[in-house]
Amino acid sequence: MFNIKVDFKNARVFEKNVMNYAKLVSDIHNELHSKAADENEPCGWLNLPTDYNKVEFERIKNAAKKIQANSDVLLVIGIGGSYLGSRAVIESLTNTFYNMQDKSARKTPQILYVGNNLSTNYINDLMDYIADKDVSINVISKSGTTTEPAIAFRIFREIMENKYSLKEARSRIYVTTDANKGALKKLADKEKYTTFVIPDNIGGRYSVLTAVGLLPIAVAGINIDKLMEGARIAQDKYSDSNLKYNECYKYAVIRNMLYAKEKNIEILVTYEPKMYYFIEWWKQLFGESEGKEQKGIYPSGAEFTTDLHSLGQYIQEGRRNLFETVINIEKSSNDIKMKLEEDDLDNLNYLEGKTLDFVNKKAMEGTIEAHTEGDVPNIKINIEKLDASNIGQLIYFFELACAMSGKILGINPFNQPGVEKYKTNMFKLLGKPGYVDKKSNEE
Ligand code: PA5
Repeated sequence: MFNIKVDFKNARVFEKNVMNYAKLVSDIHNELHSKAADENEPCGWLNLPTDYNKVEFERIKNAAKKIQANSDVLLVIGIGGSYLGSRAVIESLTNTFYNMQDKSARKTPQILYVGNNLSTNYINDLMDYIADKDVSINVISKSGTTTEPAIAFRIFREIMENKYSLKEARSRIYVTTDANKGALKKLADKEKYTTFVIPDNIGGRYSVLTAVGLLPIAVAGINIDKLMEGARIAQDKYSDSNLKYNECYKYAVIRNMLYAKEKNIEILVTYEPKMYYFIEWWKQLFGESEGKEQKGIYPSGAEFTTDLHSLGQYIQEGRRNLFETVINIEKSSNDIKMKLEEDDLDNLNYLEGKTLDFVNKKAMEGTIEAHTEGDVPNIKINIEKLDASNIGQLIYFFELACAMSGKILGINPFNQPGVEKYKTNMFKLLGKPGYVDKKSNEE
């Protein structure tokens, strides 16, 4: 069932102005779709929900079963698009305290992430934590050369080889990388690790529905068939090139219209803490796709009502260069009802019989009204409830909106040339062969 409804009534743009983009949107739609099946173009994610490798999909499920059976912990080694997608889905769809739950309640391995920073504390603490646990590793890198995951993999590979026999250590390491190239691929071939392929025509931040995301997600016990089914529903729903009938494209257009009105910061808001990493995934998707050529909306995130007590003042009355996109989850699970207390010392009896979710929704409605009146335009994305199908739909919605929005902005939403700059400097400072500045050597 299709479950996303987008509400633009507080976006402060006129429908007729939105429709001025109809021809441009339809041209971009045709351009993207003409490239979707081309292995040399970065648009493989567009038809992925229908056009994925079914053999690989079954291999992922089987590997997940094996990891579930023999591991207390799955270490996911990756950075950026190679870990944010799986973390977003896992944290949205599992118990808030999943990793802290007793194994009998959790039933599936703890999922821990490493290789997304260079912190000595983090690595040391993780080494201590896993010392007495059975571990499997999924190391994920499309390029196979990214420094942070490469360093983490070197450290944890050694730990695995000390902990288990070489044969067993190898059988507990799963590599997700390019089919042919990169240092990680070479290493995987040499050590005969189980490997999964990231298709050439799907970039890192668009790869959550490939093995990159699917293996950790499946290990966490999430139904990946349902996730793909959700993405398929959205693929079908948003296949219309006509802007009038395509809310995903309307979101992309309205973002650009707001940007033209100097609203150059978008805050993606959730009222559900489980969505924290979904917002992190979204920030990377839009930030890395659009922020180039000195253009682009700065993507930021907020978790309300928590951040209403930190960022709320700024949003209400600070610089007026913001707009908000709120993800509203219509139904909550097992709601909690407020009860009557005889002495009412906390003055909460007026809420008697109301559910906590009702209170949360009223906080949302009140905030949207306040922020809109404070000149912060609002877009509301409604999903029925948090489940695998709806998250699959939302992933596809944002991927497609991002590609469309970036194209409307006139940049290439599929590359990330700016990310190389810090790497080059870091490699020079570290003296990596090929990067050493000759001049500074001579001095
Ligand atoms: O979206 C992207 O392409 C990047 O964020 C990458 O995912 C990130 O830099 C990690 O790269 P790799 O998977 O090659 O290690």
